[in-house]
Amino acid sequence: MSKLFERFLKENPYLVEERIRSPCPIGPEKGCGTCSLSIYSYPRQLKIKKEFINWLAERYGVKLPKFTFIKSPKISHYRNKMEYAIFPEGIGLRERGKWWKVLDGHTCFLASLAIEKVFFESIKVLKSSGIPAYNRKTHEGILRYLTIRSNQKGETLLSLTISDLNNKQFNPYGYKLKDVIRKITPLTTLPSVVGVSIKQSSSISDVSYGKTVKVFKRNYLKEIIKGVQYTFSTDTFFQINMYTYNIYLNTLENFITSLKKDFNVLVDLYSGVGFFSIYLAKRFRFKRVIAVEEIAESIRFAQENAKINEINNIEIVKSRVEDYLSELTDLINSDPENTLIIVDPSRQGLEKKTLRFFKELRPKYLIYVSCNITRFFDEYSRVLSYGYQIKDVVFLDNFPQTPHIEGFFLLTSV
Ligand SMILES: C[S@@+](CC[C@H](N)C(=O)[O-])C[C@H]1O[C@@H](n2cnc3c(N)ncnc32)[C@H](O)[C@@H]1O
Repeated sequence: MSKLFERFLKENPYLVEERIRSPCPIGPEKGCGTCSLSIYSYPRQLKIKKEFINWLAERYGVKLPKFTFIKSPKISHYRNKMEYAIFPEGIGLRERGKWWKVLDGHTCFLASLAIEKVFFESIKVLKSSGIPAYNRKTHEGILRYLTIRSNQKGETLLSLTISDLNNKQFNPYGYKLKDVIRKITPLTTLPSVVGVSIKQSSSISDVSYGKTVKVFKRNYLKEIIKGVQYTFSTDTFFQINMYTYNIYLNTLENFITSLKKDFNVLVDLYSGVGFFSIYLAKRFRFKRVIAVEEIAESIRFAQENAKINEINNIEIVKSRVEDYLSELTDLINSDPENTLIIVDPSRQGLEKKTLRFFKELRPKYLIYVSCNITRFFDEYSRVLSYGYQIKDVVFLDNFPQTPHIEGFFLLTSV
């Protein structure tokens, strides 16, 4: 929970007077803490979030037009990805704020039912494999993380992070990759599993990423959303709530339609595997679509997604957005009236250089999708408000039971 959100709740105690029993069996205080709003009824959560938006707007001096607030169609078992820590003491989520303490067998009622089921099946396999789990204090041990992703069909993709087996500190037992493969093979026969990857990490930092050393069956899942086929892996970004995919695409579509213009160029910055750009390329008649993303694996999936959907007018660029700004300047200057830009940065928002770029160049049409609206309000009040008005705004409760809110802002330059 952010400091500002905490302050808002403190200033508005009447909003949090009535509590309910959280669906989490141990509750957010003793559990991992993600579902910190689950101690309030869903209508109450929505009221809290709407009032928080108004409070933020006032605090940052942002004049918001009348906004739409969309509920999530589902408030439990909506998440398509979970990452479970493997400790000698057990496998599960960690206790809130305690990196050293795992809650054995603790999943989350926000995880999809397919993830929940395969989590319990997988921990049986991993525990009975006899492969030692990684000890975060001594740095000895092999099994580190189990990441599970699911799709709307209930298929699951697993990714197991292990220590670098060549490092004697991690692996004094002399385990070989083939031993690990043999012992975890039963994971591949679990009913919902369409693929399992093993990743090897040579870092002593507690991270789940690593180099892929083995793939059983396949390393991707498929989704069909509004007639578009997408493929993605456990590591690539894909919107987390399986029940709001359409809402994202409909909202962008409505914004674009409301501008009553035939844009020539769409630039999708922070594009991931092309969730927005590939759908929009199909839906509208852009001459060029440019998607910019920094992660190589996401780029590969974006290329694949463009191919399977037969999108031929898309250029997929591997670059940090801040390193792409000079190309973007030329692009916007060549057709300022007919270029539409979408940004959907990670939680930390736009980098300083990118924010300055928008202030100085002020491209005419900008859609800002934000999973951290506090950050958006801050950036808007400090920088973007000098060049832009908020023409339309939609909020989506994409993360029920948590304090997070997704915001879609249609900005036009003034
Ligand atoms: C919130 S996700 C949005 C992805 C996409 N719009 C979607 O809905 O699936 C942000 C994406 O931006 C990428 N990213 C983060 N910082 C970046 C940067 N500075 N330059 C380029 N890509 C970046 C991340 O890897 C991630 O794929």
